[in-house]
Amino acid sequence: MIIAIDGPSGAGKSTLGKLLAKELGLLYLDTGAMYRAVALAVVRNKLGLTDEDSAAELARKARIELIGEPDSLKVFLNDEDVSAEIRTLEVAQAASIVSTNSAVRRTMAEHQRQIGESAPKGCVLEGRDIGSVVFPKADIKFFLTAKPEARARRRFEEDRAKGRISTYEQTLAEINERDQRDVSREDSPLTIAEDAVVIDTSELDLAEVFEQMIAVVRGEKSEAA
Ligand code: DC
Repeated sequence: MIIAIDGPSGAGKSTLGKLLAKELGLLYLDTGAMYRAVALAVVRNKLGLTDEDSAAELARKARIELIGEPDSLKVFLNDEDVSAEIRTLEVAQAASIVSTNSAVRRTMAEHQRQIGESAPKGCVLEGRDIGSVVFPKADIKFFLTAKPEARARRRFEEDRAKGRISTYEQTLAEINERDQRDVSREDSPLTIAEDAVVIDTSELDLAEVFEQMIAVVRGEKSEAA
């Protein structure tokens, strides 16, 4: 079974994707982490973020692996654990730019399909273009969204817990900037797939969203039976 979860950042995709994967015994794939790993390679190699050909070549050559259980997933770039480094603000901003590169996207999408298809019981993939491009025939597609203010509030609190010093206003501005880039890029912009189940998580807590998602999955399963 392939479950696609798309949506803007801060809508709860990662947390819910992990919960769903655990509950259903599926592999969990955070595709944003893969774009972040490419971005880190670009930054480390001191390539300009707009040097498209070099970034594309790096993406093709880089060995990006996600290893472990959903809760303790580690991201490896050429055998080095970069799980912490890809979460910095610098890498997030770089990933947002690198992910507009069509050749990088093609390489990542291929890699994601391979991983999803070879997962024995199936896979929950979380990203921006899973239901629209990577797995247009996914068994179930979710689009999680929330008002920018709700997403910024969550991100701000997560950052504060991790010790990052910023303000709510700064976080909101960053979210708006990245959203804008995600929806306006030419290649695979963030869009709601026609057959996606859309859930606005602004006013819902985690358990409520999870219940709705599980109900959809169980409904689909019994329909298929
Ligand atoms: O979800 P995230 O913040 O870790 O994603 C990092 C960046 O990668 C973000 O700017 C959006 C982009 N991305 C993408 O373009 N396509 C995906 N499938 C996943 C992430």
